[in-house]
Amino acid sequence: MRVTILQGSPHQEKGNTAQALQPFVEGMEAAGAEVSTLLLADRHIEPCHGCFACWKTGQGCVIDDDMPAILDQMCGSDVLVLAAPLYVDHLPGHMKNAIDRSIPLILPEIQVVDDHCRHPQADANWHLRGVVLLSVCGFYECENFAPLVTWAEAYCRNLQAPLLGRLLRPHAHAFSALPRLVPAKASVLRALEQAGQELVAEGRIRPETEDSVSADLLSRDAFIAAANRSWK
Ligand SMILES: Cc1cc2nc3c(=O)[nH]c(=O)nc-3n(C[C@H](O)[C@H](O)[C@H](O)COP(=O)(O)O)c2cc1C
Repeated sequence: MRVTILQGSPHQEKGNTAQALQPFVEGMEAAGAEVSTLLLADRHIEPCHGCFACWKTGQGCVIDDDMPAILDQMCGSDVLVLAAPLYVDHLPGHMKNAIDRSIPLILPEIQVVDDHCRHPQADANWHLRGVVLLSVCGFYECENFAPLVTWAEAYCRNLQAPLLGRLLRPHAHAFSALPRLVPAKASVLRALEQAGQELVAEGRIRPETEDSVSADLLSRDAFIAAANRSWK
């Protein structure tokens, strides 16, 4: 299984997203996957101009930046992992730009699929098995991810590929700050690794594994006290 991770944290390999990704990647690799991580904050990605030149000419995007290589990498993948911190209930802007710029991967023609208008994929040889969403956020409650999950489900319907897993790590600063040996954190790390193995071995991540990834690490009162202390 070839997996491409679109990693959208501005903190790249040093952030909370990277800390949650690491055991997931280890699990996938241990199960035999070939995993590539694209650090989007390190790439030159302009916003979409909305000119539709890619569809009108069939010659790709008019913007000269790093997107063609990113699109090639996406098309060579069995599974895409969208990994990003939650920003104002959605993706960070540069990652949304990359997603917007993936329009050349679909054709302008409209088809009806399951009683809904969709665009077919441009590359008939790309058989995407599905998408995994991994996100971290600052707030305590897992419900903060609801708008992003709703978007990811819609994105998958447009790609005509299933959402294979939702790895959501709330109060991610507490997660990163806790030592690895603290039992609650060790359990989350094990669940992330397990999620990687399940994805490769079973083609999806089990709901109970997703729940273990999102488990509370401390009480909400303790979270609020620690978070407010950290800003003083
Ligand atoms: C501009 C901005 C917007 C954010 N919006 C939210 C948000 O809507 N909800 C939330 O829980 N956390 C929010 N956060 C917190 C980040 O999701 C959190 O700090 C995350 O762990 C950062 O991950 P990283 O270290 O990989 O960058 C926001 C942070 C920034 C900088």
